[in-house]
Amino acid sequence: MKVAVIGCGYVGLVTGAGLASIGHHVVGVESDPQRLAAISVGTPPFHEPGLPALLESGLRDGAFEATADLDRIVEADVVFVAVQTPPGENGSIDLSFVREAARRAAETLATQPRRRVLAIRSTVLPGTTDALRTLFDDRTAVAANPEFLQEGTAVQDFLRSDRIVVGVHEAWARELLAELYAPLGAPFVASTPATAELAKYASNALLATLISFSNEFASISESFPDVDVEEVLGAVHLDRRLSPRVDGAVVRPGILAFLKAGCGYGGSCLPKDLSALIASRQAAGEEHPLLEAVRTVNDSQAGRVVGLLERSLGNLAGRPIGVLGLAFKAGTDDVRTSPGLRAVEELLTRGAEVFAYDPLVRLEAVLPWREQGLTLVDGVQELMSKVQGCLIATGDPAFAAVADVAALHGTLLLDGRRLLAADELGSRHLAVGRAVPHGPGDDDAGTPVPS
Ligand code: UGA
Repeated sequence: MKVAVIGCGYVGLVTGAGLASIGHHVVGVESDPQRLAAISVGTPPFHEPGLPALLESGLRDGAFEATADLDRIVEADVVFVAVQTPPGENGSIDLSFVREAARRAAETLATQPRRRVLAIRSTVLPGTTDALRTLFDDRTAVAANPEFLQEGTAVQDFLRSDRIVVGVHEAWARELLAELYAPLGAPFVASTPATAELAKYASNALLATLISFSNEFASISESFPDVDVEEVLGAVHLDRRLSPRVDGAVVRPGILAFLKAGCGYGGSCLPKDLSALIASRQAAGEEHPLLEAVRTVNDSQAGRVVGLLERSLGNLAGRPIGVLGLAFKAGTDDVRTSPGLRAVEELLTRGAEVFAYDPLVRLEAVLPWREQGLTLVDGVQELMSKVQGCLIATGDPAFAAVADVAALHGTLLLDGRRLLAADELGSRHLAVGRAVPHGPGDDDAGTPVPS
C-alpha cells in the first residue's frame, strides 16, 4: 500500500519506518531542513533504539523516502498526520499544527480526488478528528489512529503492537486501515473517532494515576520509621489479579513497573496529555478531581524528593549536590518535563551548588539550566568526587555501580527510582518511600549523617 506521513518527528518516523518494514511504500514529509537531511541519510535526529537500522533498511530498499514536498501525498492511499501538539496556555493543547497540516493536505488532495484515508496519528482531544472532516470531500475519510509508543522501546512497540485503535465512520476506510496493519497481527479495535481519541487519553491517564498513587504511598511510608514503600507495593503486586499464576509461575505484567514510587512522571506525553484533558474539560465547565489530584501529587514530587535530602543534610544552600539522570527516563536523550531537571530547579532554588551527569543528554539540551548554575560532569566517578549528596533520578544502566562509587567518596545517595538493593541502601543512604534517619534538618536531630 502507498502511505504518506506528514511530520517526521518521533511518532511519524517510527510509524513511517515501521510501515515501510512491513511491506508498504512510505513517503515521509518533513518541513525542517536539518531534520530532513538527517533522516535522508538514515540518521534519526533523536535517540531511539532500533530506529536507525529500520530507517536505513527502508531507505536502502526504497520502501521509505523522505521529502519536503507535500504534493507527494497525492500518491498515497493512507496519509498520516503526525505533527506536534505542544502545550498551549493553562495546560491546554495547541492543535494548530494538526489543523494546519490537515488543511494543507485537504488543499493538496483536492487536485487529485480519489478515495483515501487521512489518519490522525498525533494525540488529539475527542472531537478533533470529526471536526476536520469538514475540510475534505466525502472521498477522503478522516480517521483517528492514536499511537501507543513508549520512548526507548518505540520500534518494538510498533512492530509488536498491543492493539491498533482506529476510529472512523466509513466502513471502507476501516477495512483499508485493517489491511494496512494486518502484517502486524495485532488486535484491531474499531470505534468512532472520539472513542479512539479518548482511549489514548485514558491509557496515559491510567499510567499517570498509578505513578501518583505509588508516590502518595511513598509519602505515607516515609512517616513511619520502619516502613518501606517498596515492600508495601511489593505485597500489593502479588495479588493474583495483578500477578496471575500461569502454570504455577507468577507472571509479572509490565503495568507493575508503573506501580512503583519514584521522582514523578515526566516526558512529552503523560504530563501534557493529562493537563490537556483537564483543561478541555474545565473549558466545558466540568471538573475531574481524580485527574487533578494525580497531577497535583506529581507536581509536588520533585520538591518532596529534594526535601528528603534537605532533612538529612540540613540547609542545602552552598552545598554541592549531584543529580544522576537528566532525561525524563533512562534510555532516552529527551529532557522534556524531566523529573531530574525539576529536582535540579528545586536544588538551585534552595541555593545548592548543582552538578549532574546523564550519559545520553547533550550539553545544548540543558542550556537554560546551565545558565541558572547547573554544571555537567562526565561520569559517575567525577560526580561523586564533587558532591556531598546525590539524587538518582533515572535508572540508566551507567549508574549500576553507583553505590560502590558513593561508598568510596562518602557521598550520601538518595535513590529516587528505587533501583538500589536493600543491602546497597543499608541505613546509610536515603530512598523515596523510606523514612529519613534523623538529621540536622530535623528539630530533634540526633543520628549522625554523612557530611
Ligand atoms: C508514554 C506511555 O507509556 C505510552 O504508552 C504512550 O504511547 C506514550 O506515553 C505516548 O503518549 O506517546 P513515554 O512518555 O515514552 O510513554 O514514557 P513512559 O515509559 O510511560 O514513562 C513516563 C514517565 O513516567 C517517565 O518520566 C517515567 O520515568 C515515569 N515513570 C514510569 C515513573 O515515574 N514511575 C514508574 O513506575 C514508571
